[in-house]
Amino acid sequence: MGSARFSASSGSPNPRPEVESLHAYTAPLEGRRGLLRLDFNENTIGPSPRVVEALRAIPADQIAIYPEYDGLREAVVANLAASGLAVPLQPAQVGLFNGVDAAIHAIFHAYGDRGDQLLTTSPTFGYYTPCAQMQGMEILAIPYEGSHFRFPLELISTILQEQRPKLLLLCNPNNPTGTRLAPEQVLELAVAAPQSLVVVDELYEAFTGDSVMPLANFAATPNLLVLRSLAKTAGLAGLRMGFAFGAADVVDRLARVTGPYDINSFAVTAAFAALADQPYVDAYVAEVMLARDWLRSRLDASGVRYHLEGGNYLLIWPRLPPSEVEAALRAEGILVRDMSGKSLIDGSLRVSIGTTKQMQRFWEAFTTVESLSE
Ligand SMILES: Cc1ncc(COP(=O)(O)O)c(C=O)c1O
Repeated sequence: MGSARFSASSGSPNPRPEVESLHAYTAPLEGRRGLLRLDFNENTIGPSPRVVEALRAIPADQIAIYPEYDGLREAVVANLAASGLAVPLQPAQVGLFNGVDAAIHAIFHAYGDRGDQLLTTSPTFGYYTPCAQMQGMEILAIPYEGSHFRFPLELISTILQEQRPKLLLLCNPNNPTGTRLAPEQVLELAVAAPQSLVVVDELYEAFTGDSVMPLANFAATPNLLVLRSLAKTAGLAGLRMGFAFGAADVVDRLARVTGPYDINSFAVTAAFAALADQPYVDAYVAEVMLARDWLRSRLDASGVRYHLEGGNYLLIWPRLPPSEVEAALRAEGILVRDMSGKSLIDGSLRVSIGTTKQMQRFWEAFTTVESLSE
């Protein structure tokens, strides 16, 4: 018997070696109901009432049939057109995914071969690395620069030119540092590296306005791919709906490695309703921006170290150990994310920004835990 093909411990066939060295993704997602959830950068008030109405109106037979995606790409294009695109998108340039996580998975599956390089930054969104490892790729993770976590533009440009990595993954603004990269620079990187697929994860662009989409012409720059989601602004994180925008050929390659019915029909119904109610999303984003300003003024007055740049989140360095502060806030019904052990931002908490009222509640609890005078 070829023992190398069987797992010594369970007697079952061995998975690929890359899979053996991975760990299943775990995040502290349990027991969050009813608490003020400032730990995953989600929308903190829920989706548009129109989304809820549309979901309630779903007829029973829709549950019994496979999901239908007719018209959804067109609805996405119409929603995007309002933001002013250099060249209007065609529906074939819109990839639909079960959340941007699934788009990221598909990108690596379609483009990342064993031994290929992924160029990205550090620290950044935690799902890029396991996807690269899954494919047996080499990971070049370039640290952000200085105490303000500046984007390492020079180094990234040089490596792009010299090493010609298969994939460049930019999170703009970056989660968790909030680092912003001007859309012109994103485009320049893509133009200068036609041999690399330059993926821009724009999950939080609504909070900065730094999207490369208004500049993008995917016919001229077919190696550029942009990711967006309805999770964080439209409030559909629980239903999962992500998009990839790019050249039709690239979008087609991602579709080839995506299951035919990966997005369920509830998410489709919710997406149509969410895309049709952009004013609701815009109003939520505006409220978050006000809350951000309020919190920034409190932090400035307190002398607490923080870093707030792009996105609906910030990093705060408490004086007490972060795990203690996190636990004390949890006891008060408020969840934040402990960034302990993460390179460059060890010792910080990542706090999502919701409404001003929610941030006032957070600030009151935080100052009490830290014994800061208000
Ligand atoms: C930068 C970034 N990209 C992608 C995702 C995943 O998005 P989705 O919920 O659409 O899968 C997240 C979620 O936290 C994120 O922060």
